[in-house]
Amino acid sequence: MIIKKLQSTILDLKSKNDVTILAHYYQPIEIQEIADHIGDSLGLSRIAKDKTNTEYIIFAGVKFMAETASILNQDKHILIPNPESCCPMARFLTPEKVLEFKKNYPNNPVIVYINSTADVKAEADICCTSSNCVEVTKYAKDNYNSDSVLFGPDANLADYVEQISGIKTIKMPEKGHCIVHSQLKPSDLKNMKEKHPNAKILVHPECSREVRELADVIGSTAHMYNYVKTSSKEEDEFIIGTELGLLERMKMDFPNKKYTLANEKMICYNMKKHNLELLEYVLNHPDDKNFEVKIPKKIAEKALKPIDQMLNH
Ligand code: 13P
Ligand code: SF4
Repeated sequence: MIIKKLQSTILDLKSKNDVTILAHYYQPIEIQEIADHIGDSLGLSRIAKDKTNTEYIIFAGVKFMAETASILNQDKHILIPNPESCCPMARFLTPEKVLEFKKNYPNNPVIVYINSTADVKAEADICCTSSNCVEVTKYAKDNYNSDSVLFGPDANLADYVEQISGIKTIKMPEKGHCIVHSQLKPSDLKNMKEKHPNAKILVHPECSREVRELADVIGSTAHMYNYVKTSSKEEDEFIIGTELGLLERMKMDFPNKKYTLANEKMICYNMKKHNLELLEYVLNHPDDKNFEVKIPKKIAEKALKPIDQMLNH
């Protein structure tokens, strides 16, 4: 009841203000329900660039996502309901480390995963997301005429790219990872498969190779969502190897299928730092600078090029 009331207040405030709300699939479901657009990190970057013409964009996602939207919309106000919602993976890489890798591997293009800070993106040749990491890597290899690429900060995603494309990835750093996806173990999937023998296993490429090898489908959040959306009537049970929010969205949109979270710890507490009360506050105080995400002009201009390149793939 309280949730429904808050949602209706938010929708009312939204209709009176010049605001678009973007939400990632990992957001609490009550936020996804009132967002204008829901998506994965590539989809939301595209929407931020091409489909938002409001003065304010509220980004319900982790900070790097709001930063990317800000870099793509330097004339708009990008607001984040909880400025402490950061992706711990982004902390694995600094611009200084990228420069050191560049010096040690001078002829390798630098590919930076979107889960990184703006100043790290500014040192990249091209950015990628889990949706287009393989295409971006093939493009970078051909375009820079190199045998290998520098790739960071997710070593599991780099390994996935290497496995699919056959292109060597030099990991920046060697063991960068997601603290949520790296908790998923092969034993979790084996246990779940015993309990649900007919279920298809869907995992995110941020999972380890051992986990990916047990999966039926590997892909970004949007890829997994679309897989379930277009699955046949007979394919009606899924083990979800990613964050809880995506499972909740699937349950809501495709209620005739059955879902099990691959491991009960698959919850990204940073994504869950946003809530309806904070969203309401931001809508009532759009000019409170504590909630605005703004990248220094020099870094934003430098990071725009690799982000724009990413959107071409
Ligand atoms: P997607 O690009 O699949 O949305 O993933 C983002 C992310 O943070 C996964 O942990
Ligand atoms: Fe970052 Fe992992 Fe959370 Fe995705 S799930 S935002 S990679 S901590």
